[in-house]
Amino acid sequence: MKKQYIILIGAAALVLIYFMVSFIRGDIFKMDNTLAVTDSTWIAPSIYTDNTVSGEERKLVIYGQDLIAHTAKYLGPKGSVAQITNGMNCQNCHLQAGGKAWGNNYAAVFSTYPKFRDRSGQVESIYKRVADCMERSLNGTAVDSNSREFKAIYAYIKWIGQDVQKGQKPHGSGIEKLAYLDRAADPVKGKQVYTTQCMSCHGANGEGQLTPEETEYAYPPLWGANSYNDGAGLYRISNFAGYVKNNMPFAIASHNNPTLTEEECWDVAAYVNSQPRPHKNQGNDWPKYDKKPLDFAFGPYADDFSETQHKYGPFKPIQKFYKK
Ligand code: HEC
Ligand code: HEC
Repeated sequence: MKKQYIILIGAAALVLIYFMVSFIRGDIFKMDNTLAVTDSTWIAPSIYTDNTVSGEERKLVIYGQDLIAHTAKYLGPKGSVAQITNGMNCQNCHLQAGGKAWGNNYAAVFSTYPKFRDRSGQVESIYKRVADCMERSLNGTAVDSNSREFKAIYAYIKWIGQDVQKGQKPHGSGIEKLAYLDRAADPVKGKQVYTTQCMSCHGANGEGQLTPEETEYAYPPLWGANSYNDGAGLYRISNFAGYVKNNMPFAIASHNNPTLTEEECWDVAAYVNSQPRPHKNQGNDWPKYDKKPLDFAFGPYADDFSETQHKYGPFKPIQKFYKK
């Protein structure tokens, strides 16, 4: 009897010591990290636990994160630095400051830029890509590339993508591509979806709602004078539908538990993007017509499909045309 107890206590002590040693050496945390890396979906670093940056660089990263999350406080109509954008925040479309899987995140920005993009027909730097969103999604003017604001955004984008290898695009980065419907997306059906699923936050006229301090939106606008212009990525209904499927209604829908069916996503995208919004002259975009995305709403095209079909679909016939 006695002997058995001693063996048992001895074994328990050994197990305890094993865990204490691995805890002190940090193996237990390493185990966590391994999970994060091998898990197929990207997980953003957290500035609270991260110690890869220090000093001035760390200050820039923190300012950059705040600029993404609360852009309007610095650059909106009541901005403290400049009044050059429409009052939306980058985070309205790049959720959790660009850190959310399937939330149009920044995982693959530092790893893939500079890169050639067909929209401009040029090799684009991170500055050019950020400036594009300021001029289109924020319907405003870009900050200067030498400004502290851009340096901070750059530092943040670099920091958030630190674990992604050059050229890699992790699972869950950007916006999900949904399969095309067999029919055109339908703004009339989309209005139904909007009224029941979106209007409570985004407003009867898509105008959104400011916070009580009126320095930024609690619920950002989906159309109208203060929304993104027709040169923005969300004006393409494939982007809008893929974004909404994984993320809206806000804090309810998720990648594993979407609220809307894919048909509803396409239809609500068609409805929202049929409403009035600021116009951007895009005459110099897509210098090669056959490189325009199928759902780009402005001709001329390298095919005979109408602007309406390019905007709402059906996209399968257009897709077939270009596969020949
Ligand atoms: C209205 C929504 C919206 C807002 C607001 C917005 N963006 Fe974007 N952004 C997009 C969409 C959509 C894309 C992807 C476009 C595409 O794939 O055609 C994108 C792409 C990007 C990319 C490239 C991502 C990649 O992986 O290639 C960067 C960088 C970026 N945005 C930065 C910003 C910054 C910085 C701000 C704020 C100054 C901002 N965006 C505000 C919608 C938005
Ligand atoms: C519970 C409130 C709520 C509901 C309901 C909701 N949203 Fe949102 N939506 C938000 C918030 C909040 C944001 C900005 C998130 C952030 O900044 O972190 C947002 C952002 C967006 C954006 C990107 C920013 C913009 O203004 O363009 C789109 C697009 C969008 N929502 C579409 C929809 C659609 C479509 C529906 C209905 C299917 C919907 N939302 C339902 C709260 C909501």
